[in-house]
Amino acid sequence: MRLKDQIEHIAPVVAGILMMATLSSCGSGRSSGGENSFREKTDSVLALMTLEEKLGQLTLYTSYWDVTGPVMRDDYVEEIRAGRCGNIFNAHTVTYNRSLQEIAVEESRLGIPLLFGYDVIHGHKTIFPTPLAEACSWDTALIKRSARYGAMEAAASGLNWTFAPMVDISRDPRWGRITEGNGEDPYLASRIAEARVMGTQGEDLADPLTLAACVKHFAGYGAPVAGRDYNTVDMSELHFRQVYLPPYKAALDAGAVTVMAAFNDIFGVPSHANKFLLTNLLKEELGFGGFVVADYSGVEQVIPHGVAENRRSAAEITFNAGLDMDMQSGIFVEQLGAAVKEGAVKMEDIDEAVRRILQVKFRLGLFDDPYRYLDTTRENSIIYSAEIMEHALESARKSIVLLKNEPLRGRKILPLKNPGRIAVIGPLADNQLDLLGSWHAAGDHNKVVTLLRGMKTHFPGSEINYAKGCDFYSTDRSGFDEAVRLTQNSDVAILAIGENQAQSGEAASRSDLGLTGVQEELAQLLISTGKPVVILLMAERMLTFEKLDNNAQAVLNAWHLGTRAGDAIAQVLAGDYNPSGKLAMTIPRNVGQVPIFYNYKNTGRPLDPQNMYTTKYLDVENAPLYPFGHGIGYSAFEYSNPTLSDTSISMKDTLRVNTRVTNEGPADGHEIVQLYIRDLTASVTRPVKELKGFRHVFIPAGKTVKVEFMLTVEDLKFYNQELEYIAEPGAFKIFVGTSSEKTRESEFKLIQGT
Ligand code: GLC
Repeated sequence: MRLKDQIEHIAPVVAGILMMATLSSCGSGRSSGGENSFREKTDSVLALMTLEEKLGQLTLYTSYWDVTGPVMRDDYVEEIRAGRCGNIFNAHTVTYNRSLQEIAVEESRLGIPLLFGYDVIHGHKTIFPTPLAEACSWDTALIKRSARYGAMEAAASGLNWTFAPMVDISRDPRWGRITEGNGEDPYLASRIAEARVMGTQGEDLADPLTLAACVKHFAGYGAPVAGRDYNTVDMSELHFRQVYLPPYKAALDAGAVTVMAAFNDIFGVPSHANKFLLTNLLKEELGFGGFVVADYSGVEQVIPHGVAENRRSAAEITFNAGLDMDMQSGIFVEQLGAAVKEGAVKMEDIDEAVRRILQVKFRLGLFDDPYRYLDTTRENSIIYSAEIMEHALESARKSIVLLKNEPLRGRKILPLKNPGRIAVIGPLADNQLDLLGSWHAAGDHNKVVTLLRGMKTHFPGSEINYAKGCDFYSTDRSGFDEAVRLTQNSDVAILAIGENQAQSGEAASRSDLGLTGVQEELAQLLISTGKPVVILLMAERMLTFEKLDNNAQAVLNAWHLGTRAGDAIAQVLAGDYNPSGKLAMTIPRNVGQVPIFYNYKNTGRPLDPQNMYTTKYLDVENAPLYPFGHGIGYSAFEYSNPTLSDTSISMKDTLRVNTRVTNEGPADGHEIVQLYIRDLTASVTRPVKELKGFRHVFIPAGKTVKVEFMLTVEDLKFYNQELEYIAEPGAFKIFVGTSSEKTRESEFKLIQGT
């Protein structure tokens, strides 16, 4: 409905002004007249606002519906009514959010509608695989659909803003929040960041089935010293721009309208108070026109960071650094008024921050109709729809990574061939809650298909028996005997071990990445029976399990796959889906190798087994247990050497790279063909490999497909010592292959000139 039809919903003062501004610039909540129309609209509202009401728009409080941080306050309803809080998070359902929106629109003086934010990280009610798991699908179209469906369910629940995507690069599985990200590689993480933003925001933010996205956590949050969450991040700007910046930039280029600041300090200053980061880089160099929101009490935390003495100076330095909205601390609405009066903060900067926030509310269509996201009929028809539940299954299937499938007494264990008796064992075998993952928003664990239920559904002809075997933490071995007996009396055992949802996620860093409790001991015991045992690693981070891997024949990374987890795993074990997932993050042999990643630098003394004075450990090899890009299926894929359209290209040319991939069978399957480069000589050290392309191809058994990549000089650029983003002439290697390690290569030269 158009604004003039909604006039009774918005306080008459604002409505009158808005109608004049809107009708003069035509268009409803969309950016129909470009930035100008928004400027007129936002300024027409600004002109009516008191300073306290402006500071209220810079304020975001959590409701009591969910707890995602250390502090709560119970006066948020009064603050909304007083115009001192213009945004709410952790509130959902149409009924509850409508009740709050009515207070804002019909009881506050100006009636400015609320933003409703929530952490819709991998689905809202229907839960998809955790983001790192889904990144292993390398399927950006699939990931875009996950973001779209999550936004649909969330928008149907009365939300209009999500604190996603999280795009923090990390090379350190000790850090529990790797689960929310897209792995270690800038190129893959950037493609996924784009997909998540586009899926969340759609083509038009005023579409009531889309949400405003929020790129987080800006910046460098995934590189805390010692892998300990919230810890210092210490790196050169060159390294930051080369490795950590790309996914944030990709998300912004995809149109993300909000950014969340990170808890960590970087370049010596807390992100929340970092003017270089929030203003010079984000708003000026990258041209970001949306608003920057603090993370949970992040404004207040600059005091323990040691860069502010008190709440007043915390308000001043964070706001003047470029932070626009204060999440939960209440410091902006409490302290910025005095700061403006004393000239420490400029009113024009306050207005600019309010303008950025109001513009998002206009783009969401909230001034056209503050209740457009608050429709109970949609809530019931969209949530858990068959289409979304089917997508959850497809995404879970494609996120599974088959790490190993070796023969036992001459025969591969997988896929299972209608075994008569199956033992389903482990603390994650009949477990609903943990399969939702650590950031599962409003997901309902009662909806989760467990592994046990999935096996019963997809192996109807088999006798299936269950034993828990052990728990996650204790040394209680009382369940071992039953588990061993079941295994001995079965044709195959499926052992589901890993982590519960509290062992990954925020504030869940680990110094040891091994399987906790006696899980590994149970696994070795079952393997020692001589029966076929399939190891399912169901965790949200990369674990270390080299000893177990040495004895196991079949190992899968089966993650926390969400609502359809059990169906997806069973379909892969049955061969109904030929596993296609590839690791988006390296699996180390032990925690001492961490941080470990595929795109490392060669060093001046690269590993040479014949020479002791080269880069190595005395107690473990340099190579990981499983490398970035690794993942096998039930078919073998063979690659031809890459053929290049030229042996040298100029700065203006495009290089065509072709390879032929054969599915040697026995099953039809998907392969993720990967393209890497190596810049052999440059003015700064360059990685031994860098992912620059990938293709999802379906290849029937016995068939061969040609896969083509196009490389331009843009793919060869990097930051030099002067922080210029440039390409330098010289020799390059090209690699195509099934992982970052198993590749075939060729060479070409980039020559100066056009
Ligand atoms: C948390 C997280 C952030 C989340 C926010 C709101 O502390 O750091 O990712 O979006 O609070 O729940």
